[in-house]
Amino acid sequence: RPRVLSGIQPTADSFHLGNYLGALRQWVRMQDTHETFYMVVDLHAITVEQDPKVLRQRTRVSAAQLLALGVDPERSALFVQSQVPEHAQLSWVLECLTGFGEASRMTQFKDKAAKQGTDHASVGLFTYPVLMAADILIYQADAVPVGEDQRQHLELTRNLAQRFNQRFGKTFTVPEPHIVQGTAKIYDLQDPAVKMSKSASSPNGIIELLEDPKRSAKKIRSAVTDTGREVKFDRENKAGVSNLLSIYSALTDRTIPDLEAAYEGKGYGDLKKDLAEVLVDWVTPIQERVQSYLDDVAELDKILARGAEKARAVSARTLERVFDRVGFLPPA
Ligand code: TYM
Repeated sequence: RPRVLSGIQPTADSFHLGNYLGALRQWVRMQDTHETFYMVVDLHAITVEQDPKVLRQRTRVSAAQLLALGVDPERSALFVQSQVPEHAQLSWVLECLTGFGEASRMTQFKDKAAKQGTDHASVGLFTYPVLMAADILIYQADAVPVGEDQRQHLELTRNLAQRFNQRFGKTFTVPEPHIVQGTAKIYDLQDPAVKMSKSASSPNGIIELLEDPKRSAKKIRSAVTDTGREVKFDRENKAGVSNLLSIYSALTDRTIPDLEAAYEGKGYGDLKKDLAEVLVDWVTPIQERVQSYLDDVAELDKILARGAEKARAVSARTLERVFDRVGFLPPA
C-alpha cells in the first residue's frame, strides 16, 4: 500500500470547516487505500508564542477531533509530533541542506513574519517548512493530503528529498501533494476573497467544528453573497455563492450541477437555510464523539502513545539510514 503522512496544528480551540474539507476528509478516506500516518504537530505550534496549559489542552482536543471525524487508530498511526523525536532530528539535517534564500521565499513565512515584525518572528517560524519536510520524508510518504495553502511547502519538501538523494544516494521517497480540486481552498464566509483561516478578521467568517451548531447555522445564513438571485457556481462573479455550493457539495456528496438544478428558481435564502441544516446534522454527532473522547483523557493518551510507537518503528529506521549516509558514527 502506498504511504500517506499528514499533520494539523493544535493552534486553535477547534478545527474549522476549511481544515476538514481541504484536508481531514481526505485523511479519513485514504485509510481505505493507503498506509496512513496522521499527527498533531505541536512542535510547529510553538513557532508562535503559546501558553503551555493551553497547548496541552488543544493537543488533546485536536486528537479527539481527528478520532471523532473518523481517523481510526487501528488502521492509522495517530500520534503527537513531539512524542516522535526523529522529526526534530531529521529536521536539523535538512536545515543544513536548505538555502537561506530558499527558506526566505516561503510565502507563509513572509506573511506571518510581516504580521509579527521580523524582530519578533522566531527562527523556528523561519525553519517551520523544513520541519514539515522532515515530517513527511521520515515516513517515506508517497502522498500528502493537504489544502492548497500547503502546496509551496510540499514543493520545498520534494526539492529537499531530491537534493539529499543526489548528494548522498537514494534515501527518500519524493512525495506527491494530494490536493483535491473543489475543496482545496474553502473561503471565509464574510470575505469570500480570502481563505477560511483561524486568523480571520471576523469570527463570523469561519465555521468552527466545536462551536454551538446554532451559531454555525447563523453564520451560514448570514454569509456574504452578491446581489444577484441565481444559484450558480461562478468563482469570478459569485464568490460567496460558489463557496457555499462547494461546502454543500462536499458535505452531501452531491455534484455542483445537481445542486444548481435543485435550486433553479429558488434564491440564496433557500440555499443557505438548507446548507445550515445539513451542517448542523453533520456536526452535532461529531461534537458528541469529541466529548466522549475528552471524557476519558487517560484512554486518549494511551491511543496517542500507541500511535507514537507505530510511528517510531518507521521514523527510527529512516533516521538511522540518514545519519549513516551523512557520515555520523553508528549509534553509541
Ligand atoms: P494547518 O494546521 O494550518 O491546517 C491543516 C490542514 O487544513 C488545510 N486548510 C484548508 N484547506 C482548505 N481550505 C482552507 N480554508 C484551509 N485552511 C486550512 C491545510 O492546507 C492543511 O492541510 N503546515 C501544516 C501542518 C503540517 C503538515 C505537516 C501538513 C505540519 N507538518 C506534514 C502535512 C504534512 C499546517 O499548518 O496546517
